[in-house]
Amino acid sequence: MEFSVKSGHPEKQRTACIVLGVFEPRRLSPVAENLDKITDGYFSNLIRRGDLEGKVDQMLLLHNIPNALCDRVLLVGCGRERDLTDAQYKKIIANSIKTLNDTGSMEAVSYLTELNVKGRDIQWKVRYATEAAMDSLYRFDQLKSKKDDTRRPLRKIVWSVPSRRDLPSGEVAVKEGLAIANGVSLAKNLGNLPGNICTPTYLANQALELANQYPKVTSQILEEADMEQLGMGSLLSVSKGSRQPAKLIIMNYAGADKETKPIVLVGKGLTFDAGGISLKPAKGMEEMKYDMCGGASVFGTMRALAEMELPLNVIGMVPSSENLPDGQANKPGDVVTSMSGQTIEVINTDAEGRLILCDALTYAERYEPDCVVDIATLTGACVIALGNHASGLFSNHNPLTHELLTAGRNSADRAWELPLWDEYQEQLNSDTADMANVGGREGGSITAACFLSRFTKKYHWAHLDIAGTAWRSGKGKGATGRPVPLLTQFLLHRANGGSK
Ligand code: BES
Ligand code: MN
Ligand code: ZN
Repeated sequence: MEFSVKSGHPEKQRTACIVLGVFEPRRLSPVAENLDKITDGYFSNLIRRGDLEGKVDQMLLLHNIPNALCDRVLLVGCGRERDLTDAQYKKIIANSIKTLNDTGSMEAVSYLTELNVKGRDIQWKVRYATEAAMDSLYRFDQLKSKKDDTRRPLRKIVWSVPSRRDLPSGEVAVKEGLAIANGVSLAKNLGNLPGNICTPTYLANQALELANQYPKVTSQILEEADMEQLGMGSLLSVSKGSRQPAKLIIMNYAGADKETKPIVLVGKGLTFDAGGISLKPAKGMEEMKYDMCGGASVFGTMRALAEMELPLNVIGMVPSSENLPDGQANKPGDVVTSMSGQTIEVINTDAEGRLILCDALTYAERYEPDCVVDIATLTGACVIALGNHASGLFSNHNPLTHELLTAGRNSADRAWELPLWDEYQEQLNSDTADMANVGGREGGSITAACFLSRFTKKYHWAHLDIAGTAWRSGKGKGATGRPVPLLTQFLLHRANGGSK
């Protein structure tokens, strides 16, 4: 898909379709009103007759518009003007793009970017529209033998900006939007692939491919023998029950000089989580192919970053393994020794994410990082606490918390802070080892974060629990690509010297 920006009146556009907003109840948006005058009241007549109320999800495709140079006009219901939030804007853009794609317009000029969205400027609206458009056209059909191809698909979209002065920022917005959308697509593709295809080895190859594609990225794969040498007894204990070798995937993006301390992203890459000996129930277990979505978001963010060539140093780490029951697998009660030297009693083999993350987090120390952010589908409890709208955020450094919360708001990919108080730590006490790997049902996401915090004392660290946000369940299930927008926004902000 090709995106661009343009400023100009709708009556002058020679295009297959012009897209205009209509608010509820039966009110033309300002741009639609302008075109209405030239067409001798064509739209206002239709609306008066009750053809379009203006509700979100309503749409009207019109041909043969008097005095206009375009082939069609698509009127899009936008709901009530004062309710135009990020979420509603996304819906409106997505609806219009789907209709354009289904009705044979191969190119279009959309004026929806000129609608007022609460607290958002034109650059934001163009960027987010680009992301929303790509999101709505995404299909995961690599594994279908027959693909339902659209006959005349939408190929080119032009976002309108109110004045020529807005063109430069509009162009930046398109570029950033596409980079984020491409990162999101990569994260979705990896997330949606099943466990028999997307194995730790498959993910490792993805890292090598990324390094081939982008000159500033280099990749390195630590094999089980390497991890053995490093003393990663906790990570390796998870993969013991699997025939697929574990990998510690490391991508290095060098966009700044050597002295600049890197930001390290660590993503949980469990390519299938059956729970191990503490086996999960059968119902819905297929969704545990998504247990590598944290890792996928690291891949997606690395791609977006490399595409934008941001002046930062960023390390992306993805500890990757399966978690399966087997004669070699971890058993409840086993004690393992982590790379940090701390010993862990594995009370529940299904709490494996923290076991692979802790060794990766210890390894991250060697980069003397500016900060470390880990991203993991870590706990079912987080889905209970926050549902599917916000990722859970924990951090040992207040400024970092605020940076990430702000990045979430600015990218419409929000996180919400949960407490990391010392009081919760004692739930991890073990009679046998330095700690247990679970802390009971109460505050399950918090005790999981507390576990990780014992391995991140040497640097500024944040943890994003994306168990509720990384994929949608049920019919039409699929990976969302979250939190690539949040992470990329965080990096953009850093690249702009923390000012934007
Ligand atoms: N990958 C799961 C967490 C998960 C479960 C994410 C359901 C999304 C939906 C994780 O490895 C896990 O199994 N966690 C356990 C921890 C428990 C044993 C303390 C959980 O949440 O039940
Ligand atoms: Mn598990
Ligand atoms: Zn898991």
